[in-house]
Amino acid sequence: MRIDIISVVPDLLNGPFSHSILKRAQDKGIATVNVISLRDYAVDKHKSVDDYAFGGGAGMVMKIEPIVACIEDLKSRTEYDEIIYMSPDGQLLDQPMANALSLKENLMILCGHYKGIDERVREHFITKEISIGSYVLSGGELAAAVVADAVIRLIPGVLNDETSALSDSFQDNLLAPPVYTRPAEFRGWKVPDVLLSGHDANIEKWRHEKALQRTKERRPDLLK
Ligand code: ADE
Repeated sequence: MRIDIISVVPDLLNGPFSHSILKRAQDKGIATVNVISLRDYAVDKHKSVDDYAFGGGAGMVMKIEPIVACIEDLKSRTEYDEIIYMSPDGQLLDQPMANALSLKENLMILCGHYKGIDERVREHFITKEISIGSYVLSGGELAAAVVADAVIRLIPGVLNDETSALSDSFQDNLLAPPVYTRPAEFRGWKVPDVLLSGHDANIEKWRHEKALQRTKERRPDLLK
């Protein structure tokens, strides 16, 4: 999978892809993440990427020309399955959406800033708009990193058995059950006996019951 992320603050995206699972996915050649600086596509000598909103009001709007120049340049070299715009008014990211995106080959993600992008970009180029939650971030970069993380870890070969995505919260509409590791007793606080029993069927049953209980208590909406 290839993910091309367009940003006015590309440095914000240096960290998330340089460590742990996302780095390993790239080292293994399973995923490639490229960060493209929108400013490289600015058309005036000041390299401006934003301008005042028509009609007035506070806040700047990301200009259409650099964005279109950038999108068209990328499209001339790669065929994209989706051109995604990160925005608080997009469709809420959830596990089914991450699962669906993990099956794609090439994704382009445009990060918004300021008051957002000129609406004509959304009308003519964007194929999918994603929000990571009902709150407003300073820009789309952290949200894009969240989407890329949620998607890349699902691609076969990225996770090993121990970190398998199949037992994640949400994968079966259940939150994950509690987990423990050594020592089996700490300050008198004991790990549930069943987990030390070596009885696979009982352990599986216990985990399912705990997952169900946790989901009922914390996220009953998932069970509807
Ligand atoms: N940009 C700003 N806020 C955002 C959010 N909640 N989700 C996605 N992109 C955003």
